[in-house]
Amino acid sequence: MIKTKRVAVAGFGNVGKGVIEVLLQGQIPELKLEKIVVKHPGKIRPFSVDPSLIVTDFSQVIRDPNIDVIVEVMGGIKDAVSLILSALRNGKDIVTANKVVISQHGNEIFSLAIKLGRTVGFRGTFVGCNALIHDLSLSARRIRRMCAILNGTCNYILSHMARSGISFEQALREAQEKGYAEANASEDIDGLDTAHKIQILLGVISNTYNIPPDIPCEGIRDITMQDIQYAKELGYAIKLLGVIERENGSVTVFVRPTLVPHGTMLASIEDANNAIELENDLGVVSGLIAPGAGTYPTTVAIINDLLDIARGATLMMPTLNTPIVLNDIGNIRGRYYLRLTVKDQPRVLAQITRILGDHDISLASVIQKESAPAEAVPVVMTTHEVKERELRTALEKVDQLEVVKAKTKIIPILEGRSQQPAFIR
Ligand SMILES: NC(=O)c1ccc[n+]([C@@H]2O[C@H](COP(=O)([O-])OP(=O)(O)OC[C@H]3O[C@@H](n4cnc5c(N)ncnc54)[C@H](OP(=O)(O)O)[C@@H]3O)[C@@H](O)[C@H]2O)c1
Repeated sequence: MIKTKRVAVAGFGNVGKGVIEVLLQGQIPELKLEKIVVKHPGKIRPFSVDPSLIVTDFSQVIRDPNIDVIVEVMGGIKDAVSLILSALRNGKDIVTANKVVISQHGNEIFSLAIKLGRTVGFRGTFVGCNALIHDLSLSARRIRRMCAILNGTCNYILSHMARSGISFEQALREAQEKGYAEANASEDIDGLDTAHKIQILLGVISNTYNIPPDIPCEGIRDITMQDIQYAKELGYAIKLLGVIERENGSVTVFVRPTLVPHGTMLASIEDANNAIELENDLGVVSGLIAPGAGTYPTTVAIINDLLDIARGATLMMPTLNTPIVLNDIGNIRGRYYLRLTVKDQPRVLAQITRILGDHDISLASVIQKESAPAEAVPVVMTTHEVKERELRTALEKVDQLEVVKAKTKIIPILEGRSQQPAFIR
């Protein structure tokens, strides 16, 4: 016999309205909508609901013995954390889409849930790749490398720049006009949204809720149209990647713009889509392309969590408190794209390559285009494999040369096992 779970949805915004719509359709016998929590009860909603469902104080649903699960889709931090912790203490299970809360307060939330024998579903925090992570289930903990595009706004901007030859500023304006980017797009374009998701995924695949509060993170603000064109000439697309790599007990994690080889799944991702590529410890590569946000994609993730709770299925919740020690990114060995801004005069390249040579950095290519006389011109180089710390030390010296007019831009190149993966789903 089906046992129905009684659900309260806290939030009736972009995400909440989708969850409420699906629950009100009444086609899921395991789930029944009991209450909706909002802040402004007088607000006009996209569809009407029975007014007796609406409450404005979330402590009402926390104390209500007729509610089994609370879906937290209010956003923000303070109220959301307070709701989640009090609800767990009052015997409720939780489903949330709040990535900031899970990445920054996962420690208190998961440890309390485990202590009390409760469940926290958080597929909605990494919508774009939740299906693959959950399909892999426990084997996700055998993942060796994860490379993912997790922010639709950044991918829209970068792929639009590549397709239309427009500047970063123009592409950002268009992303804002189309509703992909907020007026304050900093969380997206500075890489923070991707970093929150990568922190959550790191906890999931490492089975720990003791995730590092900060990870190395760089956004896409200073990627120029020239970078995109040079990368294309060299056979790469530029993508904002979140990367987790585990090798011999050490974990390398970062969020950075990265040159991704053409012909791979990640390089082909256009517009606001998300994608994830996973390689396990047996070298098996798999991938998934999916929308990373939006009302219905997030609704599906939340409903799947609710169904798992209703059916007593095990949700992927980190259960240990093991700290993760991150590898210093200076230790990464890889190939790099460098964009130097130099005076347009003879013997400039000789000065730069001498410094690089002194640090055993060998170059795979150098591109300098003829251009109209200008104060400074770009020179693009790609390196052979080098340790990042060594490269940065050399470039500090290069950037001090009188002929170098701006800080050199460094972009890592994704190499190695990234192949066309088998698509799941
Ligand atoms: N939007 C997406 O595509 C997406 C995707 C994945 C995850 N998420 C996450 O999902 C969460 C919700 O996002 P959203 O875009 O749906 O936000 P939103 O459109 O701003 O909606 C927030 C809702 O929560 C209600 N609310 C806020 N604070 C409240 C409080 N203290 N008490 C009661 N109700 C409160 C608001 O009530 P009123 O309507 O009455 O003002 C509103 O209905 C966020 O954590 C976000 O990061 C969003």
